[in-house]
Amino acid sequence: MSIDETARRAWDPAGAASYDRGRPGYAPGALGWLVRKGVLGPGRCVVDVGAGTGKLTRQLMLARARVVAVEPLPAMRARLPPRLAVGGVAEALPVASGWAELVTVAQAFHWFRPAEAAAEIARVLQPRGWLALLWNDEAKEADWPDLDHRLKELLAFHGIVTPPGRAKGAWQAEFDASGLFSPWEERQFKHSVESTLDTLVDQLGSYSRLAAQPLELRERILREAAALIAAHPVMGGRRQVLVPYRTTLMTCTRR
Ligand SMILES: C[S@@+](CC[C@H](N)C(=O)[O-])C[C@H]1O[C@@H](n2cnc3c(N)ncnc32)[C@H](O)[C@@H]1O
Repeated sequence: MSIDETARRAWDPAGAASYDRGRPGYAPGALGWLVRKGVLGPGRCVVDVGAGTGKLTRQLMLARARVVAVEPLPAMRARLPPRLAVGGVAEALPVASGWAELVTVAQAFHWFRPAEAAAEIARVLQPRGWLALLWNDEAKEADWPDLDHRLKELLAFHGIVTPPGRAKGAWQAEFDASGLFSPWEERQFKHSVESTLDTLVDQLGSYSRLAAQPLELRERILREAAALIAAHPVMGGRRQVLVPYRTTLMTCTRR
């Protein structure tokens, strides 16, 4: 199983723990949209690819779907519900051809080799089966952009460039060139998450480029980040703050 070296280094046991504590789930409205479309629901066969620690997997389970959660990294997979977790990569899915009615990929497609993943996802999907990509973006206003800017400066000071986002164009052109799927449709759903100083620090610590650093440097940067966040007006001396997010749901169907 070959996966990107940054991902492999980032999500060791410490990185996986930060990830699980710090990353938000996805907007309930996005899952609700899939349920209303009849794509997700009791007994539906769903493959969650790049399932990580199960942020989306658990939401799919709440819809009582039959979920297979595919995740290559042992430290991430160890945090998945054990009955559903399977080791594997998007480019060679351990799932029978035509089994899935829905394939989900949350915050992970940019790690895949797009053409190979497109072919594999098409193989495991039933004809006209759905592919849903979910991406969480921060929808922060007021003092938040200033804090984000300062945290980016802190990372840059330590030689860490902005973590990779979904770098849309990079994977999408190659995926679309496969011709295996209908054109994408895209919609957005707002949600918000109660966060503490600790979860904000964990979230930063879960970013791949930072998580991939040697433990000592990682911990030093996170201590500096904690001091910066604690003193910033976004916390305002409070124990908990509400962080606004936006989930983008991209869907297409197998031709
Ligand atoms: C940012 S995490 C997202 C995890 C989870 N889907 C979530 O929403 O929290 C990206 C995940 O993709 C996995 N990944 C990286 N390369 C992969 C590949 N080629 N095939 C499948 N999963 C991969 C990583 O191990 C990691 O768990």
